[in-house]
Order: sequence, then structure tokens, then C-alpha cells
Amino acid sequence: MQAGEISKLTTRLSQGIRNGDEGYLFGAPDQEVTGVVLVWKPTLAAMRHAVAKGCNMMISHEFLYDFEYTSSYFQGAINWKANIARQNYLKSNSLIVYHWHGGMLSVQGVTEKYHQVFGLKPKRPNRKDLKIFCLEMMVGELQKPMTLAKLAKDIKARLKLKHVRMIGDPQRTIRKIAIGAGGDTLFTNASTMNTFLSLGAEAIVGGESDAYAANFVLDGGGALIDTDHPVTDNIAVQVCYEAVKRNLPGVPVEYFESPSPWRCF
Ligand SMILES: [Fe+2]
Ligand SMILES: [Fe+2]
Repeated sequence: MQAGEISKLTTRLSQGIRNGDEGYLFGAPDQEVTGVVLVWKPTLAAMRHAVAKGCNMMISHEFLYDFEYTSSYFQGAINWKANIARQNYLKSNSLIVYHWHGGMLSVQGVTEKYHQVFGLKPKRPNRKDLKIFCLEMMVGELQKPMTLAKLAKDIKARLKLKHVRMIGDPQRTIRKIAIGAGGDTLFTNASTMNTFLSLGAEAIVGGESDAYAANFVLDGGGALIDTDHPVTDNIAVQVCYEAVKRNLPGVPVEYFESPSPWRCF
């Protein structure tokens, strides 16, 4: 099977939505595919996993190089050490990398899985405003109200993390939260956080945050719980892996569980 048929499947699974930043980051649609691995990010570890499993196509939630969203850096950044190492590995193993980013959120079962993992009341999709549909689905009511401090502990247990960070009044009662999986709570995604606050989220539970974003959320009247980027994105990647596998019975389809890069002391 050619890669193009598999990338078209991802768009079908996203209910016909292909975001502007999604597409081929390495390789081409006419390449024959030996197997597919769904990954959070095409790191060297993920690439080695693909090769070990005999799969030459990676479907990745995140970008391949770490500068593509700031195109003015592109000329020089292609020669940065990490980018060269990734590129050399891809070239020497003739791998394909297809970027399936925000479109993962529109795959059936993804937002439902987030609601279940984070302990939200089930929510029926409301498609009146497609532009904010996916973000709106990530905002919901907790099964029962609790203090921010209790919520932080609850989320830590639900995600099986050793620690989380929290900003806001620990005694504040939280009823409605936003799930800012992955990098939604980095300062570069301030507009996403603004949408969450505008939709009435009292606390944003993010994958990964920074001090700029923390103050942005505080000044916007919200609280913030910072968890882990790959751990929260893996939730979507895993549901998408299951959907791709179901739809490609003749092709080996694998999942690479990207670990958190951090160790705490
Ligand atoms: Fe991302
Ligand atoms: Fe992410």
C-alpha cells in the first residue's frame, strides 16, 4: 500500500478535516509502506522503534524539526544538531513521516477518552461553531466539584504522575475545567488558553506550561495545573492508533508510547 492511501485515511478519520500544518514532513505519498507506527513525536527513539518493528511510515502528532512554526529560522535551523541527527536517520532508513496534529482531536472517541481520563461528565458534541468545536469539547464539568488542591492530586493519580505543578488559590472550588493536552498551555498557545477561559473554565489542566502562560492564566481569572506533554498527548495518539489499526487490516500498525523526558530529584 502507498503512503498516500494511509494519509488519506487519517483525514477520513478526522471527519474530513485536514489542518493547514498537517502533511508529509519526510518522504512522499507514492512510497510503498511496510508498516505504520503512531508516535507522539519523531524523536530518534521513536524512529529506532519503527525500524526495529520493520515499519517505514511514522504518523506523528508533533513536528519533526523544532522550528517549523517559526519559518524565518528555517534556513539555519535545518543544520542544528538534533535536526541533522533526525534527518540523517530518516534518510538512511528511507522512512516516511506524516504529520497528523490537531486533526487527531476530531477522531471519534478522542475527546470522549479525555473526558474519561480526566474525570469529566460526558459531553455531547456541539458542532455549531466548527472553529472552536474541538476546543469546546475539551472544556467540561467535573463529576463533582473539588478544591484546586484536591483536583491537582486527583489529576496526578489519574495520569499516574510523580508530581504536578499548580498555580492559583488551592482552596478555590473548581467545577469546570479545560483539558489543555500537550503544549496547549505553553505561552505560544495563549489564544487557546484565552478560548478556554472565555468558555468558562475555572482551571486549565495542561500538558506542559511555563511562567509566561501561568501569569497569563492567573490574570485571566483562572488557575492552572501543569502535568506532562507526551503523557497527555499520548491519550489522543493511542485512540488514533487503534482507529488506524482497525481500518488497515492488511498492514502492520504499531504504537510507540513516548515517555516523559523528565526525571525528578
Ligand atoms: Fe503540538
Ligand atoms: Fe503536543
